[in-house]
Amino acid sequence: MSKYIIRGGVPLNGSVTISGAKNAAVAIIPAALLVDGVCRIENVPDISDVSMLFGILRQMGARLRDLGGGTVELDCTSVSTHAATFDAMRRIRASYYLIGALLARFGRADIAMPGGCNFGGVRPIDQHVKGFTAMGASIDIKNGVLTATTDGGLHGASVFFDVVSVGATINIMLAATTADGVTLIENAAREPHIVDLANFLNYMGADIRGAGTNVIRIYGVKSLHGGTYSIIPDQIEAGTYMAAAAGTGGRVEIKNVTPKHLECISGKLREMGVSVEESGVASIVVEGGERFRKIDVTTMPYPGFPTDMQPQISTLLCLADGTSTVTEGVWDNRFKYVDELAKMGASIRVTGRTAIIEGVSGLTGAPLRAHDLRAGAALVIAGLCARGTTEIEGVSYIERGYEDIVGKLRSLGADITSIDDTFDASEAPAEASAV
Ligand code: EPU
Repeated sequence: MSKYIIRGGVPLNGSVTISGAKNAAVAIIPAALLVDGVCRIENVPDISDVSMLFGILRQMGARLRDLGGGTVELDCTSVSTHAATFDAMRRIRASYYLIGALLARFGRADIAMPGGCNFGGVRPIDQHVKGFTAMGASIDIKNGVLTATTDGGLHGASVFFDVVSVGATINIMLAATTADGVTLIENAAREPHIVDLANFLNYMGADIRGAGTNVIRIYGVKSLHGGTYSIIPDQIEAGTYMAAAAGTGGRVEIKNVTPKHLECISGKLREMGVSVEESGVASIVVEGGERFRKIDVTTMPYPGFPTDMQPQISTLLCLADGTSTVTEGVWDNRFKYVDELAKMGASIRVTGRTAIIEGVSGLTGAPLRAHDLRAGAALVIAGLCARGTTEIEGVSYIERGYEDIVGKLRSLGADITSIDDTFDASEAPAEASAV
């Protein structure tokens, strides 16, 4: 298994190009199951969550052609099974989008459910089940397999979510695209990847209105046709490089971004004293200063500050003057990385859903372990900012969601290498990804 060795203290400088959005890709790829014909998808990130999903679809009979440069042709026309009960399904959380997609296509889905999560909290799917049930499906979960059946297919329905859920919004959008009649989703999630999925489906012939607001109307259509679509840039990958640039006191141009999607992150960095400037339509320049100002952050569904940037901003706040607070407003528990930062000299106390962070004069390199994707990214940032050498194990989590993170950071001048260590069974991600 690999680990990263980082010699910190080097300011990042130069430019970095952001890849396609992971959380859009993992929704759009299963959506291809609804399409009759070839989907040419551009800006597909080269990350392990995406390759796992492609592997699952191939196992079900889909044809995939990699055209290089992040473009693939995916043709699911010959998929003839509604069952995806093999082991690979348990290794990626987003595999549950196959429930919505297979229900739409076959009126039935048998899915191996992803296992436990590694944030330390519960990952319920009651809102997904509520939506499918309203649309006429019966859901049964036994021995880790979810079976969804219908009497001749799904019908449109009104679905009100009790919590704002990205996954449930996506799953019901998928299910409703070819359902009989109109589906109304209220209290829908508004993340950029929800809009991206709606755009993909609409390009292929769907009729989805209101994505990006909290009310989405889906007028069921008979079928979808093939076409070409380009995935949006990854908001969180961009935010992670923004944090790394700021933390090391460097100056980095971050290219291929949608600045609007980054406003929630840029705003908080500016409050901390970081310079964030737009430079053209699709890039921003981030420049770190001497010390950060303390701030208070609460994570919220979009357009609030994203939970997927919570560990990264907390890491920066370890280097702020004074006491900051970071409150997790989406997940029950997402602070497992705090113990790792403490090994570097950080001073963080967690009470309930809030981390109270006392700024310290600096962090010191240490041996660390990543427990999930974003926590892993935060440890990389901490290592880049720290004095001395940091070794990070568990990097397979990081590589689920960050394309070539080592290469990109090296191109910015970071002293980071990935080395193959002896086999470490505890690192193998046997449980579902946190994503
Ligand atoms: N929730 C329920 N019931 C449900 C579904 C969700 O109570 O049926 C709760 C969850 O427990 C949580 C909240 O609602 O407290 C939000 O969960 P959501 O369903 O929005 O999360 P998700 O769809 O499972 C996606 C991203 C996560 C990201 C969250 C929140 C993907 C593949 N994953 O997860 O991304 O943290 O939305 O924005 O899109 C990551 O990329 O690192 C990652 C974890």
